[in-house]
Order: sequence, then structure tokens, then C-alpha cells
Amino acid sequence: MNGEVTGTVGTVGSGTRTGAIGAPMERLEGRAKVTGTAPYAYEHSFEGALYLHPVLSTVARGRVRSVDPARAEAVEGVRVVLTPWNAPRLARTDDREFTILQDDEVFFRGQFVAAVVADGPEIARQAADLVVVDYEAHDHEVDPSSPDRETYRPSADDTGVEPDTEQGDVEGELAAAMVRVDQTYRTPREYNNPMEPHTTVALWEGDPDRLTLYDSTQGVHVVRGTIAEVLGLDPELVRVVSPHVGGGFGSKGSAHAHNVLAALAARALPGRPVKFALTRRHMFSLVGYRPDTRQRIRMGAAEDGRLGVLVHDVMEATSRAKEYAEMSGACTRMMYAAPARRTTHRLTPLDVPIPFWMRAPGEAPGMFALETAMDELSYACGVDPIELRVRNEPERDPETGLPWSGRNLVECLRRGAERFGWRDRDPELRAHRDGDWWVGTGVASATYPRLTMPGSVAEIAHEQDGSYTVSIGAADLGTGTWTALTQIAADALGCDTASVRLRIGDTDLPSASVAGGSSGTSSWGSAVVAAARAFREEHGNEPAVGARSRAGTPENPDQERYALHSFGAHFAEVRVNADTGEVRVPRMLGVFSVGRIINPRTARSQFVGGMVMGLSMALHEEGVVDPRFGHVVNGDLAEYHVAANADVGLVEAEWLEESDPHVNALGAAGVGEIGIVGSAAAVVNAAFHATGRRVRELPLTPDRFLS
Ligand code: MOS
Repeated sequence: MNGEVTGTVGTVGSGTRTGAIGAPMERLEGRAKVTGTAPYAYEHSFEGALYLHPVLSTVARGRVRSVDPARAEAVEGVRVVLTPWNAPRLARTDDREFTILQDDEVFFRGQFVAAVVADGPEIARQAADLVVVDYEAHDHEVDPSSPDRETYRPSADDTGVEPDTEQGDVEGELAAAMVRVDQTYRTPREYNNPMEPHTTVALWEGDPDRLTLYDSTQGVHVVRGTIAEVLGLDPELVRVVSPHVGGGFGSKGSAHAHNVLAALAARALPGRPVKFALTRRHMFSLVGYRPDTRQRIRMGAAEDGRLGVLVHDVMEATSRAKEYAEMSGACTRMMYAAPARRTTHRLTPLDVPIPFWMRAPGEAPGMFALETAMDELSYACGVDPIELRVRNEPERDPETGLPWSGRNLVECLRRGAERFGWRDRDPELRAHRDGDWWVGTGVASATYPRLTMPGSVAEIAHEQDGSYTVSIGAADLGTGTWTALTQIAADALGCDTASVRLRIGDTDLPSASVAGGSSGTSSWGSAVVAAARAFREEHGNEPAVGARSRAGTPENPDQERYALHSFGAHFAEVRVNADTGEVRVPRMLGVFSVGRIINPRTARSQFVGGMVMGLSMALHEEGVVDPRFGHVVNGDLAEYHVAANADVGLVEAEWLEESDPHVNALGAAGVGEIGIVGSAAAVVNAAFHATGRRVRELPLTPDRFLS
């Protein structure tokens, strides 16, 4: 059995590369990736591996009456058919997402109800088709727009964010306002769709039993914690390995049901590695998605556009199986200076798969609504949309009253306006036509919190050859962690990057927080800096071979003293075909304020990637649910459209040269999510400018522009 995973990645720091913080260092694992030698989860090779293929429920709500495995078991090469009655038992069954094959209940269509493990993936798949499941179907509700739905307030414990807030005299200000906007914006279900499917290879072996998962995840320690708890194991007996990840966008930010299913299968077949890669279709019901939102925004302003009141009421779908709340209204609490403000969140529980994080959960749909509403207000007042935002700049965080650690929204807007050529824009609607195309431009703001998570630890050891091994269980989901942490370590140790050997993606390494909330570089990087400082204090500049030190992400008292947020400004040029309604986006520009940039090459890739995902959100993405059966009818990449090269014109990202002294010792905030925030609104606002047609429901399909 081959458990060796460090080969390719353990040597990434060797060679002659240099790259201090701020240098556009090439990805250290780039060569290994393009030559196919960087091991993704499914590619860890084993002798005697078995393959799992699941059976998914075909009813949206009900009960499994029986599972007949006979025809599947008769297929040569089938090792076991797991059912709700013969699967190994779990220790914890209060979280429905992880309660796999423990009872007969069906909570949504596409839930695991059985699984086949066989000698080959084709055998497993064929046999899974032969498993006969009999259901007792119950009435289900999957349509969030059906009338008389029950709704409830999400629990603040789950999200860490208060669902409802109110300040000032909301009703009084609404009544007194000279100019009002009152509109409802909708976003559909959206799917993360990382290129690499969610994959786990599970191996149960040894005495005492140890479980190893080779997993595609944004957090090995997070997955270990969940799996150990659900299976009732000492966490020390669970190892999760994940050196390379082919994208996640949030969906790999926690364990999901497939991890548990693979672990159960491995327990049933000890000593044999069980490989389980979800198909694209499986990923439409089992690994989360952004729930559909309906957001009502009410604004009351003076004639000059200064807001007196801002109300953001959010209605969202969730799963009856497990609560997930997308906190779409939270951005409205800190974004603009309205003395009166109210935000609320309500959930509609449905018999649907369990939603989860998708790139900028909350901010992405929330800022689509808020920034489209700001554009509406700008036309209602006759104030330029950039000037309107400048007039509503808050001096302090209006929610907490704290001073900003650095609020450079206005500079982002001004710099972007200059570069984009905003000054020459004719504010007139439907005024510019180029052949068959209406042409317009739009702007929107972006924001994302500067998060640092506690609990990461880095270890630094001095090696025989004079290099330093830097170990932390961090994740690189394609974002550039290998490279950025190597740069941070070299900078902190005062050595060349060639002298740093980074180790990440393994629970055998010191604990690391999840790659989520754009907090990775800040949280892990702070731990690496602290460990380097400890190392120099303990061992000096001429350390002995074998000298080692450890330190964790330090506490940051400024987290309580400052409002820590990143900002940005998006500009888009949109062309809408006058006859067909087809939308084209030849030009996007984003200007960002995120503190110091560790690596401009990988940071730019994150910004541009986020903007393209925002373009995709604006133009294409929509999971269409069939209310009769509860499934997504376009559950594959042929029909769930994401932006492709042909959709993308010139996408440019730049950033302010700055450093935030309050966020961490690096002065650097995250860059992973802010690119998607607000970019869809910039496209929608540009389409309005082009055509005079205001679209409040994503995506911007051609029919929205035909009357
Ligand atoms: Mo990101 S959606 O917080 O993993």
C-alpha cells in the first residue's frame, strides 16, 4: 500500500527560486501540476484499491421501504452492497448531513440510500444501477416561491452573525424620505462546481484501528474533527491528507456526506482502500450550493442622495435536513452611512439538499442586491453612481461605531473611474448603440471582512542541509498557498525561499484553520511569522541542526478595536443585442483594497477568478429545480452554464499599494472572495445603462431584454 504523498511537494522549496514578500513568484507546485505528478485525492495510488458508487434517493421526501441488493451482489467483482440496515453504525446521529445509511428516512432527492463497493469503478457503477430501492413517498415541498410557506429566523449560533439588527428610527425615516427605492432582488440556486470533484479515498487499517482519508478538502483538520466525532473515534486515530486540491470555492470547506460514506465502506472492508469520487451530477445534491435568495431593499434618501434609512430583508431557502443560512444582509450593516437601518433574515425550510458555503457566502448575493439598489437610487436622485457612494461614506463602521482599519472604497472607485474612462460616460439610458448592440457601463462596490481565524500552529525545524522545514496543516485549493506561505516563511526567517521546505495538507502536521472566509493567508501566515520569531529567539541566527520551534496564530487585540474590512470597486462594460437580447461583457475592471499583497501573480489570479465567477453569476448560473420531483434538471456542466473563455473579454484587476497595520503582522488580508462580491451588480447596472431595462433577477438571460 502506498501512503507516500510528500514526494512531489516536499521538495517544492528546493532549487534556486527567490521571492520575497511582494514578488510575483511562480507557483512552486506549478510544474508538478502541469506534468501530472502533483497527487490529487483520487490519484494517490494503492494496490488492492476498491471503488465505491452510491445509490441516490429518487424521492424528495419519504422512507426507504426496502433495498434489494441481490442483482448487484450477483455482479462479479462486487464486494459489498451497503444499505441502511447493514452499514456500520455511527456514534453521532444528530446531524442529518452526516447520518448516512443509519435509518430509512429520506430528506431530499439525491440523498445516499445505498452504495456498492467493487473491484473496479465501472463494476461499482453498473452494480449500483441494479440495486432496487422501494420507497414510501411523502408529499414534498421544494419550491421556495410557493405561497404560505413557513419561515423562521436562523439561529445566530450557527452563523456567528445576528440574523436581525435595527438602529435608529426606520419607519420615521422611510416616511420622511424625499427619494425612495423599494425593490426586491432575486438570485437563484448556484453551484460551486470546482473542476476537481469531491473525492475521498478511505483506508481502515492497523491495531488499534486507524482511519486515513485522502481527501479533496479546504481543511484537513476540519474534516478530521467531523469524521472522528461522527464515527466515535479519537481524532488521533484519524488522518486526513490533502496536498493538492482542484478548486473548492467553499464547498470543500467542511466534511460532507461522502466522507462518511467512504469511511463506513472502509470500515466494512478493513485493510482495503476504498476510492470514491463523486460524479458531477452527484455534486448537485451532496456537497452544498448557494441557496436561492429573495431580498427586499428599501432606501430613503434626501434629494442629494444621502441615505436616511436602509432596510435589507432577506428571505432564503434552506434544507429541512439541516439549517444553513446565507447571511446576505450582513454587508448592508457596514456598507453605507444611513442613520436608520434594519436587516432581517428568514429561512424557508424545504425538502431540498443541504446548502453550504459558496465563494463569499452572504456578500455575493447581498451585494448584488444592495449595489443594484444603489444604482437605482442614483437614477432616482440624478446623482452619478460613484458620487452617490462617496456621499454615503461612513466615517466609522455604522454597525459597531469602531474606526476603520483602512476604508479605501473611495480611492478604489476613483482609481477605477480614471482607468475605466468613467468621466466620458454619458449618463443617458439607452443612448449608445454600436451596430446591433446597445452599449453601457456600470459600477458597483465590493467588500469583504478581513478575517483571521484562531487556532493555527506552525512548526519550523532546521535541517542538516541548512534549509528550514515549515509545517502547518494548511490547504492550497489552487489559490497559491504553497507559494505564499513559502514567501512568508522565507521573509520571516530572513532566508531565501529556496531554503524553505513547506509541508501542508496533512493532519500529521500542526493544526490549521479552514481555507475559508478568505482567512487562510492571514491565519496561517501569522502563525508562520510567529513561529519564525520564536525560532530566532530560541535558536538565534546560527541554529543547530534539528533546532525547532512552534507558535500559533497570535491573538490580535485590534480585532476588537477596529472594523476590519476590505473594499473594492467593479466596473463593467456590457453590450446587449437589440434583436436577440444576448449579453456580452467585453470589459471588466476591479480595483481592490486588501492590505499588503503577498504575491501579485497568485493574488491577481484570485481577483480575476472571482470577477469571472461574478460574471458567470450575472450571465449564466442557475440551478433549475423540477418541483414535481425535487431534482435540479440541469445538474451537469452541459446545462448548468458557467462562464467560459468565449464569455470573457478583458478582465483586469489592480490594487492599492497599502498595508493594514491592524489586521496581522503581515499587513495582508485575504484575496479569495472579494472579486466575486459586487461584480454581478456592475454587470446588471451596465446592462441597465445600455438598455434602460432594469433586471432584478439573476441571471441575465436574453429573455430579460426582450419584450
Ligand atoms: Mo469560502 S466560500 O468562505 O470557503
